[in-house]
Amino acid sequence: MPGRYKAEVVARRRFGTLVELALETGSAIDAEPGQFIHVRCDKEGLILRRPYSLSGMAGSVVNIMVREVGAGSAWLCASEIGQELDIMGPLGRGFSIDGGSRHGLVAGGTGIAPMRFLADRLRRLGLEETLYWGVEGEAEYGGLALELAKECDLLFATMDGSAGEKGNVVDMLLDAGVEGLDGIYACGPRGMLTALAESLNDETLAAMQVCMEERMACGVGACRGCVVPASPPRRGYLTVCRDGPVFRGRELDWERIRG
Ligand SMILES: Cc1cc2nc3c(=O)[nH]c(=O)nc-3n(C[C@H](O)[C@H](O)[C@H](O)COP(=O)(O)OP(=O)(O)OC[C@H]3O[C@@H](n4cnc5c(N)ncnc54)[C@H](O)[C@@H]3O)c2cc1C
Ligand code: FES
Repeated sequence: MPGRYKAEVVARRRFGTLVELALETGSAIDAEPGQFIHVRCDKEGLILRRPYSLSGMAGSVVNIMVREVGAGSAWLCASEIGQELDIMGPLGRGFSIDGGSRHGLVAGGTGIAPMRFLADRLRRLGLEETLYWGVEGEAEYGGLALELAKECDLLFATMDGSAGEKGNVVDMLLDAGVEGLDGIYACGPRGMLTALAESLNDETLAAMQVCMEERMACGVGACRGCVVPASPPRRGYLTVCRDGPVFRGRELDWERIRG
């Protein structure tokens, strides 16, 4: 059940432009990979909460990974051990694990956060997973790829060739082959998600689930500020915060998203 917590920062690690925070909520949390928390940034002028995917969870502690892109994330990245954060969550719909034994996870940039949690969940269920992670350059997330490689089967791609394979992560997954995967899970920039969805056929698109990241206001489905276009015959729009952030590949209208 979602709730509102005064969570204490109990651990903090920096990886390049990204800061990983462990937050003690004081009560056992039940969350699915793909769900997010809405965090209040206690800084003048920042009225809206900021959404962050859970990157892990253990008992009453939840983890998030914050990339500094503006005032709210800068404030969060600067938070110190012992600091109290006002958080709401877990919110939204997470990934469904439908079964089968072979799972491919694709992350672009900070899309790694929900994928790390999902990889951990699949591993605990004894399922086979490969995590494909693409970034611009290794220094951006300094040291995180090495850390992830200890946790799971990681294939790492950089656009500038500074580490791993040179090139984009969608090509890396497609080269490895998607036929026969029981689940294809993705989170990252819109362009990456669109390129992936449009490369899949009917069967592989049916195996795809995608975690969308849109700008949010209320975070609970009331303001409709975070909508994405739904595919026919439903059409219309779905809210990322309440209907998502995880959607089946077939639920979304990729042509209109690319638009
Ligand atoms: C469900 C969900 C999960 C997310 N998980 C993570 C995560 O795990 N780690 C992480 O670092 N970020 C995540 N984000 C994005 C994060 O919420 C934004 O980066 C943050 O709100 C920016 O706040 P700010 O005040 O620092 O920047 P602002 O000053 O609000 O914006 C700075 C820049 O970032 C862009 N931006 C802001 N919000 C978003 C967004 N939601 N999507 C794309 N661009 C945005 C703005 O257009 C602007 O260019 C997630 C977003 C959603 C919706
Ligand atoms: S942020 Fe208000 S409906 Fe999603």
